[in-house]
Formats: sequence, C-alpha cells, structure tokens
Amino acid sequence: MNLSTNIITLLQPPRIVFGNGCAPQCAEFLAQRGCRRALLVSSSPLLSQLDAVTGALKKSGVETVTAPAVDQEPTLSAFETVRQLAHTEKVDGVLGIGGGSVIDVAKLVAALVDGNQTATEVFGINLLKHRALPLVCLPTTAGTGAEVSPNAILLDETDELKKGAISPHLVPDAAFLDPLLTLSVPPSVTAATGLDALTHCIEAYANKFAHPVMDTIARQGMKLISANLLRAVCDGNEVEARAALALGSLYGGLCLGPVNTAAVHALSYPLGGRFHIAHGVSNAVLLPHVLRFNFSAAPARYAEIAEALGVAGTGSDLSTAERGVEYLSELSRNCGVPQKLSDLNVPRAAIPALAKAAMQVTRLLKNNLRPLAEQDAIRIYEAAY
Ligand SMILES: NC(=O)c1ccc[n+]([C@@H]2O[C@H](COP(=O)([O-])OP(=O)(O)OC[C@H]3O[C@@H](n4cnc5c(N)ncnc54)[C@H](O)[C@@H]3O)[C@@H](O)[C@H]2O)c1
Ligand SMILES: [Fe+2]
Repeated sequence: MNLSTNIITLLQPPRIVFGNGCAPQCAEFLAQRGCRRALLVSSSPLLSQLDAVTGALKKSGVETVTAPAVDQEPTLSAFETVRQLAHTEKVDGVLGIGGGSVIDVAKLVAALVDGNQTATEVFGINLLKHRALPLVCLPTTAGTGAEVSPNAILLDETDELKKGAISPHLVPDAAFLDPLLTLSVPPSVTAATGLDALTHCIEAYANKFAHPVMDTIARQGMKLISANLLRAVCDGNEVEARAALALGSLYGGLCLGPVNTAAVHALSYPLGGRFHIAHGVSNAVLLPHVLRFNFSAAPARYAEIAEALGVAGTGSDLSTAERGVEYLSELSRNCGVPQKLSDLNVPRAAIPALAKAAMQVTRLLKNNLRPLAEQDAIRIYEAAY
C-alpha cells in the first residue's frame, strides 16, 4: 500500500444536513428543486412517524405519492414495482426515508424511472448514464451510509446474488440525517446496522485505496461506533448514543465513494443473496476471520484499527491487531449478534458455492489488502462456521 500515490476522488451529496429534528427540512429543499409531486419510499415501521415530514411537504406545496413499503432487503422485482408506480404517477422527485433497503430503492427509482436503462444494465461501475429525477434521502438506521454513497444494491433473484450499481449519479442531491429517526430501531437491527457501519470504516482504513483524507474520517467513525453501539443496543432511547452512531454511520458512508469496502463485504453478499441473512449480520460474522486473514499484509494498519476501537497497544502490531479482533467479537457477542454461520442455518455443504459466488464480487475484492483466492474464501467461511 502506497498512500502517497493513491488518487482520491471525494464523492458526496452537495448538501448534508445533520442534527436532531432536521428531517422536515427536506421538504423545503425538494420544493426549491422544483419538485411538486414526490414519490415517498419508506418502510412499515416508519410510516406512522413521518407526520412532521409529510406535513412539511404539504406546507411547501409538494404532493406525496407513497410507494409500497420496502420492508426487506430489496429484490430486482420489488424495485421494479416501485419504479413502475413512479413512472405511472408521473412523480418529479424521489424522497427515500428508511434504512439502506429503502434508500437503495429510492436511488435506483430516481435514476431509472424514465426506462432508458434497466437495473440489470447498470450493475457494475459507472454504467448508469444519468439520473432522471432529484433525489433526497433520510437514513433511519445507523447504518449503511447509503444516503451519501454512490452505491445501490439489489438482490437478483435469478442467480441469488446481491448486485451493486456504482455511479456518481447515485449520490443523492441532499441527505438529511436526523438521529431522532433512529430511536425506534429495535436492538437487533441497531446491533447489525451499527456493525455494518463499523465495517465500512474498518474496510476503508485497511484498503488498497486507503487515503489520509478518508483515514481521518474512518478512524473517527470507528471511535464513535465502538464507544456507543452497546449503549444504543441496551437502551434505544439514549439520544446521545443514537446521535454518535448516526455520525459514525455518516463517516462510514462517506468512505464508500472514495475508497469503498473489501473482502468482508465481498464474502458477505452471497450470504445475503442465498440465505437472506441481514447485511450487517453477515458482515459481523465474517469480520474477525477476514481481518485475521489480512493481518500479515499490513500489521500496523490493523494495530491502528485496534487502537481506534479503544484497545490498548501491546507493543507488537500483530498482537495488538489480534486484540482488536477479539474486542470486535466480544462487542458483537455483547450486542446479541450471532457469531457463527452454523447459527444462521447455513449448511456447511453450501460453502464451496458461497466461495465461488464471492469470487464474482471483484469490484470489492480488488480493494482487499491481501489477494484472496477461492480456496482462501472457503477457509474463511469454514473458520466462521
Ligand atoms: N447503498 C449503499 O451504499 C449500501 C451500503 C451498505 C449496505 N447497503 C444495503 O442496504 C441494505 C441494508 O440496509 P439496513 O442495514 O439499513 O437495513 P434495512 O433497511 O433492511 O432495515 C432493517 C429493518 O429495520 C427496519 N427499520 C429501519 N429503520 C427503522 C426505524 N427507524 N425504526 C424501526 N424499524 C426500522 C426496516 O423496516 C427493516 O425491517 C442491504 O440490502 C445492503 O446490501 C447499501
Ligand atoms: Fe455494508
């Protein structure tokens, strides 16, 4: 890794608003962008909490068309249903209020509503030609960071693979991060989504394309999430812990465009695709094993990660890095997250096929500090079993 020669492109929404109670401000922004009829994409547990936002939209002269709720990690066909509704209803803007699942659908609907390209055509890097409509996103988990990233992920049911579109056109026009929207997230989702955000920071910090600009943000994200995750899992109404996690999630999300993730996410996608394991949970189960595999490529980086998590150094990079991984396992266990693939109803016999599928996620494997072959993926899934 040669940090001084890595080129960095900062990619983020031109407007990021952060703070308790900021959600209704999205209405004025949409109105200023000329939006009069917005598609609202959200999920069932949130619909009853959106009165302040829908009231503000009405006051700003923006009508809302509510899409069918996105309650699960989205498939191509779930996306297509929402896209068609947006097309028929002739909306002129898209507002996504939810977790990563909702936001990814909102992003792709805003991009593809005009039917000039299909979702399948834009999976990959920079294949999307433009975005048809203005797009505003409000995250309600902390989280994927999708509200600030150029990525959107859908499950392709035909081959049971989660596929990503990456394009600057998928970066929303504005993101409003209101930590109060996350107070209602149940403990298990708080834990899984928080560990996902932490994994974004870790994989951006230990990454072939790491860069000092994002290192600072990634390190701060690790500190915030490490110090606050268990607090928020134990008491969802801890407003300060929720705000710290929302900020940590934003930091993780900001890393996605310029640096992105690596092998943890690459090996995690087939678990989501085939066994519908929640994104944060599959990452959390694999994280310690992928990190141990990677240590030898950059022991000092992994020791720095341990220190950012709050673990005391031992004087040796490798043993500090190992302590960091033990700490991560303990944090995840204390948060009630399953620790093994065997706890998640994944049959051991599926491992070779999982490894084969993971090898297709080249857009992320290319970022991994240590080259990872199919046999290595098998060994990592075995270790996590
Ligand atoms: N686009 C990106 O940059 C990016 C990055 C990472 C992950 N992802 C994708 O995002 C998806 C996962 O998103 P997620 O982890 O945020 O989970 P999610 O959006 O699937 O939400 C998990 C559950 O929590 C519920 N929920 C969300 N907010 C809530 C709230 N405030 N109160 C109560 N319940 C609430 C949802 O209805 C859902 O049932 C995956 O498909 C993953 O691949 C995208
Ligand atoms: Fe993620």
